Amino acid sequence: MSYIKMSDINLNYHIFNDMGLKEMILPKKYRNPHLIKKRSIQALKNINLSLEDGDRLAIIGHNGAGKSSFLKVIAGIFPPVSGELEVDGRIASLFELATGFEMEATGWENIKLRGLMLGESPKELQKKINGIAEFSELGDHLNIPVKYYSSGMFIRLAFSISTSIEPDILLLDEVIAAGDARFLKKAQNRLNELVDRVKILVYVTHSMQSAFEFCNKCIWLENGQIKMTGTPKEVAEAYLEHSSSPLN
Ligand SMILES: Nc1ncnc2c1ncn2[C@@H]1O[C@H](COP(=O)(O)OP(=O)(O)OP(=O)(O)O)[C@@H](O)[C@H]1O
Ligand SMILES: [Mg+2]
Repeated sequence: MSYIKMSDINLNYHIFNDMGLKEMILPKKYRNPHLIKKRSIQALKNINLSLEDGDRLAIIGHNGAGKSSFLKVIAGIFPPVSGELEVDGRIASLFELATGFEMEATGWENIKLRGLMLGESPKELQKKINGIAEFSELGDHLNIPVKYYSSGMFIRLAFSISTSIEPDILLLDEVIAAGDARFLKKAQNRLNELVDRVKILVYVTHSMQSAFEFCNKCIWLENGQIKMTGTPKEVAEAYLEHSSSPLN
């Protein structure tokens, strides 16, 4: 039994405005006062949500609504400033694929490193390593450091590794533009299989079609708050109606 429980979760980001050279050489009284200030952005506000086995949640909402932040909190990338988060189950995150790679190490070495970091045992990883390499179709390129990879090659490797583990909970941020068109089709099939196998899916999408296809629950985020919860159909209809209103 896997679950995610979020109680009154709040997430803030602290940002510092950079001072340009012009600002630095100007006497203090002529400087733009807004530039040197530290600011705080409240990305998630009082989020309450519980998910358990069988739940497939779509998260929709406008740009900047807090959707990716929501996934990052569940993944443990950003700790909430307040509230309680309980997660039981092995998590796989399919976003920010590039994090955790060792740029000086070869493709083969990165398969091992990433696999271990994602929680595979050395024994399990050994069984999977050739399959991961094969899926990436990188061939001899796996022998060179990944810093020399093209962006498409890099995504192929990252995607092949990330989708090879068996998670209980899958966090997905939009469809990944994985390399060329043929690889994209292959990647999409692999992703669909993974989505079918996991116990809990949390899926950020701008495509209502994907929300209907993959999910049985939906939330609409706006300004970091849950504006509506329901089935994908109910929430998507309300969202589309709201978005097409001339006042929005
Ligand atoms: N690393 C960060 N540092 C500071 N502020 C951030 C950071 N990441 C996001 N934000 C801010 O938090 C808010 C929510 O951003 P988030 O990326 O979660 O939105 P989103 O709903 O995923 O948007 P999109 O649809 O554009 O991907 C925005 O105001 C954004 O500027
Ligand atoms: Mg986002």
